[in-house]
Amino acid sequence: MKNYTNLLDIENLQELIEEALQLKKENSAADAGKGKTLGMLFFNPSLRTRLSTEKAAKLLGMEVMVMNADKDGWALEFEDGAVMDSNKAEHIKEAAAVLSQYCDIIAVRAFPGLEDREKDEAELVLNSFQKYASVPVVNLESATAHPLQALTDAITISELKKVKRPKVVLTWAPHPRALPQSVPNSFVDVMQRADVDLVITNPEGYDLNSKITKDTPVIHDQEEALKDADFVYVKNWSSYEDYGKILSDDRSWTFSQEKLAVTNNAKVMHCLPVRRNVVIDDTVLDCGNSVVIHQANNRTFAAQAVLRRLLIPAT
Ligand code: CP
Repeated sequence: MKNYTNLLDIENLQELIEEALQLKKENSAADAGKGKTLGMLFFNPSLRTRLSTEKAAKLLGMEVMVMNADKDGWALEFEDGAVMDSNKAEHIKEAAAVLSQYCDIIAVRAFPGLEDREKDEAELVLNSFQKYASVPVVNLESATAHPLQALTDAITISELKKVKRPKVVLTWAPHPRALPQSVPNSFVDVMQRADVDLVITNPEGYDLNSKITKDTPVIHDQEEALKDADFVYVKNWSSYEDYGKILSDDRSWTFSQEKLAVTNNAKVMHCLPVRRNVVIDDTVLDCGNSVVIHQANNRTFAAQAVLRRLLIPAT
């Protein structure tokens, strides 16, 4: 593995899932990262991604440097040929090259602006780091993808499934803020590669990018979609069609005990953070069907497996 910027970087998903589960079982530090440094740059807030990736790196013996790039660094210019006479003090060409002197792996979180779809899909920040860094780059959630979260989700389902090919439902839920499509995009992507029956349910106007959903069924009747589900992944996203807009605050889509009752006693997943009683009711998050904490714990082992592959590409 040369970089981990999207799920295409995984050659064999099942192999990587097994590697992560083995690392979880071993519960011990390895020395693949001894003498190596991970540099993490956050242009947006994080709890899980930041701490689980730091923990994963340390379990591998790495040193870790973290920077809140939006607050603590020089404002970066990403455009080639820019005349830098305004507020941007440093070009990504130098920044990425310099970071590559200090770090053996660079990891970056940069959310979309959700105003210009074409611009967000160009993934300027992530791609610029990849273009100008001379070390591997890891995506800690970009404008359109969250592959570390998706690998975690695949690991969690693989670990908890009771049937060979479970029914997995990705359901939209309401949220007061406009959120990116990165988590659902990557979840759909990884589930299409896994041995599951995937169904997506969302209100009209919230269909994800058809280049990502491909032939996965999209059902606009949530209850119909949830029938017999073994896993339900609850997530909000803003409209892709009417890009970045909140079209609905329909609380009848909040995931409740009544919705859970329609499923096959499903395990309930969410990437977190979750807005209680808006996205998922307390009664669901606090019941035995919720696996959100188990899922968050797996973030460490997903990150550990990916970092290890980048440190020892041949494994
Ligand atoms: N799920 C996730 O990425 O959490 P953070 O935003 O807290 O990192």
